[in-house]
Amino acid sequence: MARIFVAQPTMAGNERRYVLDCLDTNWISSNGKYIGAFEESFAAFCSVRHAVAVNNGTTALHVALVSLGLNPGDEVIVPTVTYIATANAVRYCGATPVLVDVCAETMNINPEDIERKITPRTRGIIPVHLYGHPADMDAINDMARRHGLWVVEDAAEAHGAAVRGKKVGGLGTCATFSFFGNKIITTGEGGMITTDDDDLAASLRLHRGQGVDAHRRYWFLVVGYNYRMTNIQAAIGLAQMEGVEKALADRKTLAAWYNEALADLQDEIILPTEADWARHVYWMYTIFLRKGDGNRRDLVMERLDEADIETRPVFYPMHVLPPYREDTPYPVADLWAQRGINLPTHQGLTRADVDRIAGSLRAALGQP
Ligand SMILES: Cc1ncc(COP(=O)(O)O)c(C=O)c1O
Repeated sequence: MARIFVAQPTMAGNERRYVLDCLDTNWISSNGKYIGAFEESFAAFCSVRHAVAVNNGTTALHVALVSLGLNPGDEVIVPTVTYIATANAVRYCGATPVLVDVCAETMNINPEDIERKITPRTRGIIPVHLYGHPADMDAINDMARRHGLWVVEDAAEAHGAAVRGKKVGGLGTCATFSFFGNKIITTGEGGMITTDDDDLAASLRLHRGQGVDAHRRYWFLVVGYNYRMTNIQAAIGLAQMEGVEKALADRKTLAAWYNEALADLQDEIILPTEADWARHVYWMYTIFLRKGDGNRRDLVMERLDEADIETRPVFYPMHVLPPYREDTPYPVADLWAQRGINLPTHQGLTRADVDRIAGSLRAALGQP
């Protein structure tokens, strides 16, 4: 039986044709028609005025924070459960990521825990829409407004997710996305920042392109970065955008298959929840074991691996990792991150694959 991967890209549309067009016309670097076209398409998808393409989701976060004026000594609130890039981008600016515990159901930042971490040095909040479920943006924005903070949505994992019908990408001061090969849509490596703020968009473009003056060649206005996306990446991105609604529909169907196939294992595992105000886009269909520690979870994953099914553990919380280590307990993250497993989630999976995964999981959990 073929190995089932936890993630894989789908290149079913015009990707090849658009890439060949770049090669045939010699527009292979960071100029060319696909960059603007991809940005426009992505801005329309998120219903925002601006989308600025960059070379990955980490640089998207970094250039967003630079453009918002983050400085050494400043503090930024981030959830302790996230991919490390969220915290690293804050550090790149010489600022301090201040960690906050998460909600058990979604592993997203707990708005109730944010307020007590706000100090006179706090400049902003970076909620992460983890594994495709949006964070509680209304509560977060409300708090940010009261304290005069900006909000950067880290939407790397949540293209198309929505809060009360409004898509992520347009819910904060700005939002950042990743197009790494395992994401809902991909450009191989790539990223995007979206915003409705005209001045911020201009600053993002300035800092993305080495800080060069738009009207005077080799005249640099600020210390910028080379975080540009190539025309070839954007060509793939544009083709992916043509298939994004199908990608979202396929992931919804996949989640429904999993919910059905795993329904009778609910004494052993917790299935993903979708808040009644949220649209979950299932970047990773994530389950939690009801009992045991990280060792038991790792054993279940090992058994799945032996059955040729690749899975991933939920991210280690930042406060247990060497660069951000703290002795403070974060009770929800400490308990649930070690019980979480990302099951295979991609468009290539069939109903039969899901039944095979459910059967192997049942056996791995020692269930008849
Ligand atoms: C939550 C989160 N933020 C940021 C990133 C960084 O994106 P990239 O890998 O494109 O640099 C990722 C990527 O996996 C992510 O999951």
